Amino acid sequence: MADKIGIFFGSSTGATERAATLIKNEIDAYAIADVEVHVVSMNNVSTMSNFKYLLFGCPTWNIGELQDDWAIVFPSLSNINFQGRKVAVFGCGDQFGYSNSFNDSIGILSQKIIDLGGEPCGWMPADDSYQFEYSRGATDGVLMGLFLDEDNQAAQTPQRVANWVLWLLEDFGLRQPAAA
Ligand SMILES: Cc1cc2nc3c(=O)[nH]c(=O)nc-3n(C[C@H](O)[C@H](O)[C@H](O)COP(=O)(O)O)c2cc1C
Repeated sequence: MADKIGIFFGSSTGATERAATLIKNEIDAYAIADVEVHVVSMNNVSTMSNFKYLLFGCPTWNIGELQDDWAIVFPSLSNINFQGRKVAVFGCGDQFGYSNSFNDSIGILSQKIIDLGGEPCGWMPADDSYQFEYSRGATDGVLMGLFLDEDNQAAQTPQRVANWVLWLLEDFGLRQPAAA
C-alpha cells in the first residue's frame, strides 16, 4: 500500500491554496505516495493522526500571525501525538511589504511541531532570491520550510515547489537521493 501524505492548509485569498495544489501535483508525479488535501479546520484536525507524513500550509497575516483557519486549530494541535510523524511546512508571504515578518507562520508552526515531538522536515538553505530582513521561520540562513511569495515572485513558485518537493521526498525517506 502506498504511503499517505496529508496536506492541511489555510488560505484567505487563495495563494496558499494554489501552492497546495501545485505541491500535490508535484508529489503525484513521482507516484510514490497518496496525497490528500484538506482545508484545515476543527472538523479534521484530529485526522492528522492518520498520516505519518504531514504538510502544513499557512500564509502569514496581520503582521507575523497565523492565517485565521490555523489560528483556530492551533491550540488543538496539542491533542495530536506527533511522535514518529514527519511534518513539513510551506507558506506564502510578502517579503517586501512585511520584510520583518516574512513567512513568520512557518516558524510558528515549525516550533509547535518540535515542541510536540514531531520530526520537522523540508528545511533548506535560503538562496539569494529572497530579500527579507527577518523571519521567525529562518535560522542561521536555513528556512524551516518552503517560503513562497506570490505577491512579488509568483513566477518563481513552480520551480521553488519542484526543488522543494524533490528534497522533501528524500527528507521524508520516500525517495532515494539521486546518485552523484
Ligand atoms: C494586512 C496584511 C498583513 C500581512 N502580514 C504579512 C506578514 O506579516 N508577513 C508576510 O510574509 N506576509 C504578510 N502578508 C501577505 C500575505 O501573507 C500574502 O498576501 C499571502 O500570499 C496570502 O496568502 P493566502 O492567499 O493563502 O491567504 C500580509 C498581507 C496583508 C494584507
